[in-house]
Amino acid sequence: MNYDFDHPPDSPLEWCREWFAQATEIGLPNPLAMALSTVDHRGHPSSRTVLLKEFSERGAVFFTNSNSQKGSEIAGNNAVCLLFHWDQQARQIRISGAAEKISAEESDAYFATRPRGSQISAWASEQSQPASSRRLLESSWHEVEKRFSQQPVPRPPYWSGYRVSLDAVEFWQGQDDRYHDRVRFEQSEQGWIVQRLYP
Ligand SMILES: Cc1cc2nc3c(=O)[nH]c(=O)nc-3n(C[C@H](O)[C@H](O)[C@H](O)COP(=O)(O)O)c2cc1C
Repeated sequence: MNYDFDHPPDSPLEWCREWFAQATEIGLPNPLAMALSTVDHRGHPSSRTVLLKEFSERGAVFFTNSNSQKGSEIAGNNAVCLLFHWDQQARQIRISGAAEKISAEESDAYFATRPRGSQISAWASEQSQPASSRRLLESSWHEVEKRFSQQPVPRPPYWSGYRVSLDAVEFWQGQDDRYHDRVRFEQSEQGWIVQRLYP
């Protein structure tokens, strides 16, 4: 189905799913990479890339270390922004919402699917803390590997999924002369408010 910016659907859900699928079909290495922006206690913003791992009407899920910079910023202010950009398709999706940790059971289930090396890294990395050398990183990794030898690696208690609610979702499609198409969906008590925007 091709969505028409003059006749957008009632909800952004299926439209997002279609763009995610089309970005995946063209064979990009990380089609579901998105910039996650958070703000610190002074209101200073920062962004970094994370991977979208689940998407539903409940929101967009990514996984990370809760003790990281992003994790502590979300603990102080859970208003976040997600941004996808697919240059080959001249497309962008912006999602604003509130980030909440998913349940321990959901995080356990996803952690169990990760390659063992990544599971070890989740324990070994004090994400966002200063580290003196690559050698130190490697010795921490091997220590963890030894600790869990011959047994499954459990999820570290500080490693979690976060679900970002879909409070506002904006689609952008590049057009000639930089006269692009934009549609913004915003949640309200009456449902989605849908507006075309000037580029
Ligand atoms: C393509 C790509 C995907 C990434 N995916 C994740 C991810 O899913 N989770 C994560 O914690 N970090 C991911 N990272 C690393 C983050 O961008 C970031 O460096 C790290 O999480 C520390 O961020 P912070 O110090 O702002 O908390 C990814 C980086 C790249 C380039």
